Amino acid sequence: MQWKDQVNHCYNIYMNAEGLKQELEQLRQEIRYHNYRYHVLDDPIISDNEFDQMFVRLREIEDMHPDWIAPDSPTQRIGAIPAERFKKVHHPGPILSLNNAFSEEDVRAWFERIAKLDERVRKTNFVVEPKIDGLTVVLHYRNGVFVRGATRGDGEIGEDITNNIRTIRSLPLRIPVKSDGPHPPKDLIIRGEAFINIHDFEELNKRLEEAGEQTYQNPRNTAAGSLRQLDPKLAASRPITLLVYAIIDSSDNGVATQWELLNYLRELGFPVTDQAKYCENLEAVLDVYNLWQERRSQIPFEVDGLVIKINDLQLVADLGFVGKDPRGAIAFKFPAKIVQTKLLDIGINVGRTGVLTPYAIMEPVEIGGVIVKKATLHNFDFIKQKDIRIGDRVHLKRAGDVIPYIIGQITKLRNGKEKIFIPPNKCPACGEQVENFKGEVAWYCINAACPAQIIRNMEHFVSRSAMDIEGLGFGIVKQLVGEGLIDNVADLYSLNQQELLKLEGFAEKKANNLIQAINTSKSQSLQRLINALGIRGVGEVAAAELARNYRNLDELSKANAEELMNIEGFGPNIAKAVEDWFKKRQNKQMLNKFRSAGVWPVSELRFADKQRIFQGKVFVITGTLSGFKRQEVKEFIQSHGGKVTENVSKNTDYLVAGKNPGSKFDKARALEVEIISGNKLREMAGN
Ligand code: IVH
Repeated sequence: MQWKDQVNHCYNIYMNAEGLKQELEQLRQEIRYHNYRYHVLDDPIISDNEFDQMFVRLREIEDMHPDWIAPDSPTQRIGAIPAERFKKVHHPGPILSLNNAFSEEDVRAWFERIAKLDERVRKTNFVVEPKIDGLTVVLHYRNGVFVRGATRGDGEIGEDITNNIRTIRSLPLRIPVKSDGPHPPKDLIIRGEAFINIHDFEELNKRLEEAGEQTYQNPRNTAAGSLRQLDPKLAASRPITLLVYAIIDSSDNGVATQWELLNYLRELGFPVTDQAKYCENLEAVLDVYNLWQERRSQIPFEVDGLVIKINDLQLVADLGFVGKDPRGAIAFKFPAKIVQTKLLDIGINVGRTGVLTPYAIMEPVEIGGVIVKKATLHNFDFIKQKDIRIGDRVHLKRAGDVIPYIIGQITKLRNGKEKIFIPPNKCPACGEQVENFKGEVAWYCINAACPAQIIRNMEHFVSRSAMDIEGLGFGIVKQLVGEGLIDNVADLYSLNQQELLKLEGFAEKKANNLIQAINTSKSQSLQRLINALGIRGVGEVAAAELARNYRNLDELSKANAEELMNIEGFGPNIAKAVEDWFKKRQNKQMLNKFRSAGVWPVSELRFADKQRIFQGKVFVITGTLSGFKRQEVKEFIQSHGGKVTENVSKNTDYLVAGKNPGSKFDKARALEVEIISGNKLREMAGN
């Protein structure tokens, strides 16, 4: 080699080393930052996959230059620093993590590596478990009683989230003593994963949306966020569940294998996955992986891979660990369902409570078998925090069957033409000024006459979980509002056939059916009607609570916020929203319309304990009843479990007839429906 080449060669090595070192520092910095976002803020801005790639690269560089490994490198630490607001918990031993494998080769390489260290590995068998995408929890039991629950934190010190964990219904607060099962050890510390099933997550978001509240992004962050905030009531209101899979410490530990351990914990009464598989050898493990990858969508919770564990726990202990990862187990990740696309624009939905929700309009892209063009962007803070700009390339993720969502933008793919999004200060539907309520991130259009809100309100009012008016879909609602036939939901009850026939696409039959469906909805329960009103924060659950506590809308309209706060689950915000709703002039007018249209149910829940003598019976009322107002007769029947309908049919059990009955009387006779007086009605109820 010429001297010049030699110098160049040395210079290249020097430069490469310099460059590598720079890359290493940058990786460490980025990993620390993303670790913090993920573990402390519960708000990751990159995908797990991207994070894993960075980690793999950092490891690679450290493997090349072991002298560069510093004690504060992310590879030497277990997780993230605990947030300051919770009490700290020192774990009894390190709460380890797992090394990742992304391919069959990675798994085989892992096996060969450990087989070289210990010859028992070649004859060992395995347990394969789903790798649950949730929040690790460390659970302490003393004399069989749950005494403490902690997060993993940095693996040595976690956060004390006992009060929140206690709200997880599948967590045994006391290990039951069974005559035929194992006896609870004096001290037991176990590890598991808290998470939300995909179905429950979707239901939760549906409920929130119906109540006009902000929806959550994904099950993992919802579970982690709910457990790592200070209000146990909020944690309790989220459908968090648990599966346990490891013993950290026990005063009485007789199990020798992971398979026995899972059975032992199950027998003690803990929730343990029934999807774990025992595998005789590595080939069987790989078969399980291939099978599961196909059936991934059938697993009820989000899984990002499998955990392959050596079954023999002594062998696992003897193999020890590297950094934060035990040698005796590895996570075999599923390929992530993440795609890239372009954000073309940001649209804004106006919800029925007036909440403005931004959504992404994207270049159509296929993800997990579906073509996606739109995805929610949650709220304006989300766009700002993730610095999402119009024109950005964005990462879209779809986990399990969850609706796809945007993880964040890809800064390095920017060309400078991207536009920063400025949230509107006017409602895009009606042009009125938008407002922000104290303590909430959302912006609202507070114009009660906003057409977007009226349509959404209407849509909610007629929906399945509310008044359930069949045949009244979004299109017809839009037509009715557009033609000025209705201004609010109560106007539905004064619609007539002639008016409907003027609408495009309406013939006699369709108009009749719709009027019939609207009439049928008059006998819906009080809880459905309250839910249907669309009061901010009041969805199905809160509506049922209100119906349990108040007899009818009259009584409820007189309740003030202070009184409402005595109801289970009612905080100051909902209580105030209910009080305010009933105070509004337009709403008072609407209630009057309901009343005169006969849409005035009496609480069934309130009278649930009363003898439901008319349960299953259908009544029709006609004529003037002495000493009974029409509305009172209706309430009387309903409060005893009966149903009141408008028209006599073969399903009618009784016609309650007063003076000057109408044609209903003749119809009842023709159909041989029993005709009774107001007095007889009272008598039948034992009054
Ligand atoms: S075993 C030493 N088993 O995955 C044992 N972990 O990426 C290490 N995880 O922090 C954990 N499901 O929170 C194990 N069946 C399972 C798991 C599981 C989910 C999580 C766990 C861990 C992370 C590692």
